[in-house]
Amino acid sequence: MVSEKEGVKIGIIGAGFVGSTTAFTVMMNGLASEIVLVDIDQDKAEGEAMDLRHGASFVSPVNIETGGYQECQDADIVIITAGASQEPGETRLDLTKRNVEIFKDMIPKLTAEINSDTLLLVVTNPVDILSYVTWKLSDLPARQVIGSGTVLDSSRFRYILSQRCDIDARNIHGYIIGEHGDSEVPVWSATNIVGVPFEEFDEVCNQKKNNDDKSELISKIKNVAYEIIDRKGATYYAIALAINRIVKGIIRDENSILTLSTLLQGEYGFSDVYLSLPCIINRNGIREILELELSPAEQEALNTSAEVLQDLIGGKLN
Ligand code: 2OP
Repeated sequence: MVSEKEGVKIGIIGAGFVGSTTAFTVMMNGLASEIVLVDIDQDKAEGEAMDLRHGASFVSPVNIETGGYQECQDADIVIITAGASQEPGETRLDLTKRNVEIFKDMIPKLTAEINSDTLLLVVTNPVDILSYVTWKLSDLPARQVIGSGTVLDSSRFRYILSQRCDIDARNIHGYIIGEHGDSEVPVWSATNIVGVPFEEFDEVCNQKKNNDDKSELISKIKNVAYEIIDRKGATYYAIALAINRIVKGIIRDENSILTLSTLLQGEYGFSDVYLSLPCIINRNGIREILELELSPAEQEALNTSAEVLQDLIGGKLN
């Protein structure tokens, strides 16, 4: 559980695009009193820290440190962004072998240093697989090992629907669940605007426009990360904002509902796999997984997503 001590300490493992943008976002939003950047390239971590520190007069007081895993010792949350990232043309799942090897080395060393109540927030891809691997290797309760999951995909979904309907994205309620990746599942049956099912709203707002049908819209969401990677090499702004949202839900004990990657223990018919589902999150980590009433097609798509991940997990820790 995030401690009652004054201030919030956040460790960030990996000072690449995602890690350093996350540090910037968390700093801008005044969520931490101390941020520790850890990277095997210590110069890179120190360079990012120096750059961030020079913004001190514009934000709430925050110490930006660098160091090794031992400097994360009393962190409230450690955010893991380290590992190989996708090259153009690669899927997230193509990273499995390389990043599982990195995590097998990193997680035991990290967990030997941190407090037993530190929360681990895994962001590195494939995030569902690596969250599972982190949970297995850390010996921490599953509620403390959280994957950023489809929080970003749900935001992309809400953004695209907001553009389609000319409505503020914050007023679109919609979730993407399952794998953070190619088999992810949009939950159309639970998507609504001011309580009105999306289909009904869409009939009105879509009359004026020549919009894509729903399956084209979903393939746009699934493929958008590939498009960004083709154009600029990596995605990092929106994922950093998604991480910031998760961190805020934790440290402010918000009991927020976010589509996080979490260990299933019978929910939705699956066990022993990390998948993204709407979860209530607070200072203790994941409080509860919410069971949506899925349509048969959505449940079938979720089954496929779970099978993809279970197949990949099998044998990866041996
Ligand atoms: C994203 O969806 C690549 O997983 C990363 O932006």
